[in-house]
Amino acid sequence: CGIVGYIGHRDAYPVVLKGLQRLEYRGYDSAGIALYDGKELKMCKTQGKVADLKEKLENTITTNGNVAIGHTRWATHGVPNDVNSHPHYSNSGDIVIIHNGIIENYDALKKELKTRGYTFESDTDTEVLVNLIEDVIINEGVKLGKAVQIALNQTVGAYAIAVYNKTKPDEIVVARLGSPLAIGVGEDEFFIASDASPFIEYTNNAIYLEDGEMAVVRRGKEVRVRKIKDDTLVDPYIQELQLNLEQIEKGGYEHFMLKEIHEQPTAIKDTYRGRMLADEGLIRMAGVDDNLERIANAKRILIVACGTSWHAGLVAEYVFEELARIPVEVEYASEFRYRNPIISEKDVIIAISQSGETADTMAAIKLAKEKGAFAFGVCNVVGSSISRETHAGAYTHAGPEIGVASTKAFTTQITVLTLMALKLAKQNGTISHTEFMTYLQEMERIPSKIEKALEGDEHIKMIADIYKDARNCLYLGRGFNFPVALEGALKLKEISYIHAEGYPAAEMKHGPIALIDEEMPVVVIATKRGHYEKVVSNIQEIKSRNGKIIAIVTEGDEEVRDLADHVIEVPETLEPLTPLLTTIPLQLLSYHIAVLLGKNVDQPRNLAKSVTVE
Ligand code: G6P
Repeated sequence: CGIVGYIGHRDAYPVVLKGLQRLEYRGYDSAGIALYDGKELKMCKTQGKVADLKEKLENTITTNGNVAIGHTRWATHGVPNDVNSHPHYSNSGDIVIIHNGIIENYDALKKELKTRGYTFESDTDTEVLVNLIEDVIINEGVKLGKAVQIALNQTVGAYAIAVYNKTKPDEIVVARLGSPLAIGVGEDEFFIASDASPFIEYTNNAIYLEDGEMAVVRRGKEVRVRKIKDDTLVDPYIQELQLNLEQIEKGGYEHFMLKEIHEQPTAIKDTYRGRMLADEGLIRMAGVDDNLERIANAKRILIVACGTSWHAGLVAEYVFEELARIPVEVEYASEFRYRNPIISEKDVIIAISQSGETADTMAAIKLAKEKGAFAFGVCNVVGSSISRETHAGAYTHAGPEIGVASTKAFTTQITVLTLMALKLAKQNGTISHTEFMTYLQEMERIPSKIEKALEGDEHIKMIADIYKDARNCLYLGRGFNFPVALEGALKLKEISYIHAEGYPAAEMKHGPIALIDEEMPVVVIATKRGHYEKVVSNIQEIKSRNGKIIAIVTEGDEEVRDLADHVIEVPETLEPLTPLLTTIPLQLLSYHIAVLLGKNVDQPRNLAKSVTVE
């Protein structure tokens, strides 16, 4: 979910509305805004997108007022409908709340509140919290800030909240535990948001609350930050933001996803810039350099992540083992955290996360740290929770990724992890200096090779048109390109809702081959080197069952061209680097299929970009 708030001298409505649009990537099942016009608290909420909210709101309430809070929701408790949308009122109607996260003990609290006469309109845990706050104010006669604190100390769960009480109209109270919350500090005005994008055009100064902190944001006063647990005052650190507006707008592209696909050459350069010094034959990564012994001597590297980041982890497994010869295990963070894993102090755990906020990944890191492992983060969002929770890390520097289907985050994660593997390989002497130099030189060519791969766009669009009505699709790859097959299938599922599965090509005969008929497109990654001949025989197996073959091949390949129904070429590169190129056509293929089917590419149904609940 995304939350936004404003208190200051401007009209709050347009600020909050635009802010919600920027945060829509975080969830878009429903949206709502509460506004205070100096006299009354007005509210409008609806199932659907922020655009639906705008229409409904402007037809039902007046939009004047200098204070507002808004929410765009990714449903957890309660189906997405108008009633379950945020904000939520307390029973008196004086207090409103917006909440991102989950209150786990809401049921017990709800029962308790019901015995005291509270009634509930929605199925949400959030409505319980706002009434609990009201109950504390009534029973203990405390101010809003104190009441929020007392109430939160009775909850179990995760949250980023903003609470407003119209009887104390000059302040908004915010708190965070497990979900991000930033306060934009302007001149006599404050902004509240899940990330800085809603307020970047108004101010560059932001306070990021830490887990377990709350703040009272009061008109014309300094922000007061405290610890929720023990009430100690914290000196707020005002950070100067590097983000600019252009980075979070579409820049002429029809969709964020397409823009982000095309940004990959630059994003990858930004990832290795200053780190890879090809002339000097060096890789410099502060997070690794400062802990080189510990990481290079790891008995084992454990990688934890979710979704696309997990796929980047799988690529990294192949790359680390090939180059640095350190055993690697990759695991879904959600499984890892609940299965009593065996972790020793000699293990290094790498958490990969674009947002740096994924709840399961965060929990996995905490668990591994408790057991003495060294924790390394690979995140895109600077200052995110995971980047702070880890002992060291390396940012991907991909710039903001807004399309829900991850693209440039994936290839930049692979870039960072490959640099890390090369650095460790050099340190441990598992590759020669000549090989090391060859990799660096080739890595420098990757951005222009991606440009080349992007030139296949029109051709890929044509293939997309032929297969857009397929009901199922299989993606096959081997070795370094097996995880790419998984990622290709995920991209298609996410945005076009066509069922797709990724498989190691050889494993096909143990199941998926049963699905193949003349209706079934099979995307095969069949680049030169890396088990090429084996993949060719897999292609023959598909062909003899009349499957339709879309092959990703190395430029100039003739053998597969003769067998496949369609080929998409990518430039040649060193085998461990091929995922950086073979991923590109798969991103474009799913993008075009989704567009041709008229799907909402940037905001696919039911998904959210940042999953801060488990
Ligand atoms: C969500 C997103 C995916 C993403 C995954 C992990 O499911 O929709 O695109 O890969 O979370 O997110 P992270 O921010 O940890 O990489």
